[in-house]
Amino acid sequence: MPRLPAVALLVTALLAVPLTASAAPATVTNGTQFTDTSGNVVHAHGGGMLKVGAYYYWFGENRNADNTFKAVSVYRSADLKTWEFRNNVLTPSSAAELGRANIERPKVVYNSSTGQFVMWMHKENGKDYSEARAAVATSSTVDGKYTWRGSFRPLGQHMSRDITLFKDDDGTAYMVSAARENADLNLYRLTADYTGVSTLVRTLWRGSSREAPAVFKRNGVYFMVTSGATYWNPNQQKYATATSMTGTWSGLANVGDSTGYRSQTAYVVPVQGTQTTSYLYLGDRWAGAWNRPVNESQYVWLPLKFPTPRTVTMSWSQRISVDTTTGVVQGL
Ligand code: DGJ
Repeated sequence: MPRLPAVALLVTALLAVPLTASAAPATVTNGTQFTDTSGNVVHAHGGGMLKVGAYYYWFGENRNADNTFKAVSVYRSADLKTWEFRNNVLTPSSAAELGRANIERPKVVYNSSTGQFVMWMHKENGKDYSEARAAVATSSTVDGKYTWRGSFRPLGQHMSRDITLFKDDDGTAYMVSAARENADLNLYRLTADYTGVSTLVRTLWRGSSREAPAVFKRNGVYFMVTSGATYWNPNQQKYATATSMTGTWSGLANVGDSTGYRSQTAYVVPVQGTQTTSYLYLGDRWAGAWNRPVNESQYVWLPLKFPTPRTVTMSWSQRISVDTTTGVVQGL
């Protein structure tokens, strides 16, 4: 091969670089507290994510040292690594019943008919754990102050603790929450404006004591990941599938190891990019497991894998690489 001058080698190398520039993949380290762009700890425990424009908005629990409600905080990021604190969208002064409360697992969906962002969460009175209510708040901007719309038991009767939301492609939204002292998971269809419960679609896995539901849809298959109910202690995460939200759900099968790699499901966020869509498990490693306050909890984020269209697996990686441009999320 003829010897090329250094400048020719440089030009050749530069031409080999794709013209479509993409942001470098970010590395997320598991079993840590994350920090925001101001260097503060990110408090989005038990949270959910919503993509609006170029940003992923991450809502979650921010608690006082005694674990009572401090705020639902929201952060945003384009790369799922660089988190900018945006707002405390709900605080004890947002409503009289929030003066002293426990607020858990806030989730937000956007209603394109009303133009409102609608948050659902689990609400307790901050003294005991027997209220078991769902609560709703709304806002016309994703990270503006949310207006409290009240707390209640779904359909006036069902206890409601661990909670999630899922908005289907046809705009129908569903809420799943733990009922009957956490023995059951109830799947509800929401009203057209998403601020109320329309019907109880079905009770899932009656008597099996599942918590921490998270729903996502992949290639027309609905997946629901849940945990067992062992307070703050981690346990085996399981999943089920269905071909319609209102159809029959499969039995539960294990995903991950016997403790969810010491985490409990919070949410599964689709990372849709130019090459693929990955499904990223967001888990909480609750500090309650070592008798510390919720705000000392850590995060465990792992990419889900799909050996077949209706099966999902999850394996441990201390660090993962997240490329929101291409959609590739993988263990390192
Ligand atoms: C497990 C639930 O999933 C959490 O959200 C929280 O309610 C703890 N239990 C409280 O013990």
